[in-house]
Amino acid sequence: SEERLRRLRDRVRPFPDFPVPGVLFRDISPLLKDPEAFRTLIDLLEDHLRVSHPKIDFIAGLDSRGFLIGPPLAQRLGIGFVLIRKKGKLPGPTESISYALEYGKAELEIQSDAVEAGQKVVIVDDLLATGGTMCAACELVKRLKAEVLECMVIIELKLLKGSEKLKSVPFYSLLQYD
Ligand code: PRP
Ligand code: MG
Repeated sequence: SEERLRRLRDRVRPFPDFPVPGVLFRDISPLLKDPEAFRTLIDLLEDHLRVSHPKIDFIAGLDSRGFLIGPPLAQRLGIGFVLIRKKGKLPGPTESISYALEYGKAELEIQSDAVEAGQKVVIVDDLLATGGTMCAACELVKRLKAEVLECMVIIELKLLKGSEKLKSVPFYSLLQYD
């Protein structure tokens, strides 16, 4: 699978100084555009989850780029998908949490009935940078008394040490960058 990972890495495109000066944006658009690469991506994530967590109740995806990989992955596994959205998008009773961004802050929400106490959830997103977003998502799932089996991303920006924020929650990334 080294070869498969290399083919995926070839389809992540770096854009310097986006969205702000000094940030190197890792764009997964070419990966999603290539059906073989997209399939390989979901294959590898599926393989990992089948081996590591044989009993998952739901995949939870983070608004918005987590919505690109969460649903196809959930379909492969034959389980449901639930949404963790940016504030103000979800109807009905919700739990919400605010979290720090590099500049300013943001808020995430989950519907209170999205998952039940004791259910086992894997949270997916495209990328882990500071880990603030993923950490907030974990907190939301835990507030509903569900169990976070793992946080999973395609891309991990290692230098930002975001995985340390997740503390005891298992973390998995497919591709790592400095
Ligand atoms: C990006 C990315 C992750 C998050 C990672 O999302 O998709 O969700 O930032 O950053 P962090 O680890 O420092 O929290 P963004 O908020 O830009 O929104 P988007 O997914 O809607 O594009
Ligand atoms: Mg995002």
